[in-house]
Amino acid sequence: MCGIVGYIGHRDAFPIIIEGLKRLEYRGYDSAGIALFDGKNLKVSKTKGKVADLEKRVNKEISTNGSIGIGHTRWATHGVPNDVNAHPHYSNSGDLVIIHNGIIENYESLKKELVKRGYTFKSDTDTEVLINLIEDVKSKENVKLGKAVQVALNQVVGAYAIAVFDKNKPDEIVIARLGSPLAVGVGENEFFIASDASPFLEYTKNAIYLEDEEMAIIKANKEIKIRKIKDDSLVDPYVQELQMNLEQIEKGGYDHFMLKEIFEQPSAIKDTYRGRMLVKEGIIRMAGIDDNIEKFINANRIIIVACGTSWHAGLVAEYIFEDMARIPVEVEYASEFRYRNPVITNKDVVIAISQSGETADTLAAIKLAKTHGAFVFGVCNVVGSSIARETHAGAYTHAGPEIGVASTKAFTTQITLLTLIALKLAKVKGEISNSDYRYHLQELELIPEKVEKALKSEEHIKMIAAKYKNARNFLYLGRGYNFPVALEGALKLKEISYIHAEGYPAAEMKHGPIALIDENMPVVVIATKKGHYEKVVSNIEEIKARQGKIIGIVTEGDVNVKKLADYVIEVPESLESLSPLLTTIPLQLLSYHIAVMLEKNVDQPRNLAKSVTVE
Ligand code: AGP
Repeated sequence: MCGIVGYIGHRDAFPIIIEGLKRLEYRGYDSAGIALFDGKNLKVSKTKGKVADLEKRVNKEISTNGSIGIGHTRWATHGVPNDVNAHPHYSNSGDLVIIHNGIIENYESLKKELVKRGYTFKSDTDTEVLINLIEDVKSKENVKLGKAVQVALNQVVGAYAIAVFDKNKPDEIVIARLGSPLAVGVGENEFFIASDASPFLEYTKNAIYLEDEEMAIIKANKEIKIRKIKDDSLVDPYVQELQMNLEQIEKGGYDHFMLKEIFEQPSAIKDTYRGRMLVKEGIIRMAGIDDNIEKFINANRIIIVACGTSWHAGLVAEYIFEDMARIPVEVEYASEFRYRNPVITNKDVVIAISQSGETADTLAAIKLAKTHGAFVFGVCNVVGSSIARETHAGAYTHAGPEIGVASTKAFTTQITLLTLIALKLAKVKGEISNSDYRYHLQELELIPEKVEKALKSEEHIKMIAAKYKNARNFLYLGRGYNFPVALEGALKLKEISYIHAEGYPAAEMKHGPIALIDENMPVVVIATKKGHYEKVVSNIEEIKARQGKIIGIVTEGDVNVKKLADYVIEVPESLESLSPLLTTIPLQLLSYHIAVMLEKNVDQPRNLAKSVTVE
């Protein structure tokens, strides 16, 4: 996620902002920038790369005096990481500068309007559109910066945390938030602005957290006015004294990044379909797909290449693409695909899935596919990553940085993106009725709140984790769309708790694994209402007859499995094709809590790296 830091007060702003940006580096970013005002000149310096690179560049480019400024670390969403796309962004007049964390969904239509009014753009960012919209309102309606921001934001659809500065009004900074966090540190005659409190905790423990749809005008002479963006009404500031330490703030108050990222999934899924899925209009739009739709429609088959959790997302995609779009799909381990001399033709479409965009085997598989003339599409989470640059086209999961080595929100956002692609292709091919298509969109839009609900079982899951944390082996079973989820659940447990676990299609039990079942073998069975439910129940009965310990992942209100299983964990009902987005949640939490109880290093498990950039 992007990082925002600002300062207005009696100290030198530069060191506070630079050190504050360093505190936000844990959020992940690819470029950084700063704007300072020294009473006369507005000075901006920005660069692709790290805060340390910015620090070097600033000292060469601009004088660093001035007691008001804003700084930014950018996690690219629109526009690749480079100096031009880095924040802050100027308005056309050069009077206003902005830094922004979030995604403006309607930036293209806003940009078209502004171009008609003579505005020009240097960058590919949605942020530069926003600062010129603010300038346009300010000049047209001849209002102050605060009012211009308020009016402009009422034309914006999307998520933002912004800080804006006008060099002609150098005693104030205007901030606003919707969907992205923004905190104000309240000092003695000074204010700090940041995405979280870590940049200003050493200066003050008094903080105001802006709520969604609130903005604030912060003046140098220690005044802060908070207003509702909708109607400009005043809001009483609530100053709280912070109790968290630095490390807790970086993890958003969670004990580990992995838990934070598990709980970020509702917003990460929403950010992934934001701007791409218009439910009311029944539209799915994704440039990488729209511009290459014929290649997908006319493909002989889709080959999915990936590793680890991304490979499991690919398996879910196989069910979705074949079931909905009727396009043949093969899912390959990239490490096998690259060496087995596969048959690839120019009628094949290859989809490469990778959170990091740097996995060596996946990158090699892409290069091999390209030598045979296949069209290669990337699904990555890191903008400008090697895989994103190597593929012919692609789409980004907007999961935000995933710090925990064990992939969680990457998995659910990959499935979300692949579901949108499959629905789009099914619609274009006429393989899905309009009513089914719209029903899927409506159900997908409900997923974030259903994930929120699934997350509420955490205490119950902790109790189950305590019961089985000393087991030496687990089995995970699922059918249909949930067979890949069984594999993913087993991988989660293995990689962070070091307990051996295997995932299997539930029907495979009688072909061997059932020999393993006894009273020491916990078996996690995904038995949601949709998708071969009766058959899974009979699999559960087979396990029970052999004293296996059964943990059922069931649809809320289920009674049949409840009678048979030792424990059940409920998830909300949804379409079978969307159920992996829900059934994976309890499996993530189960593995997390078992690993914590076993005192493992959850965020950096032994022997593992977040991105396997070597063979
Ligand atoms: C999953 O929890 C692991 N972190 C690992 O299997 C990971 O999914 C795999 O290395 C692929 O990484 P990528 O998605 O960045 O390509």
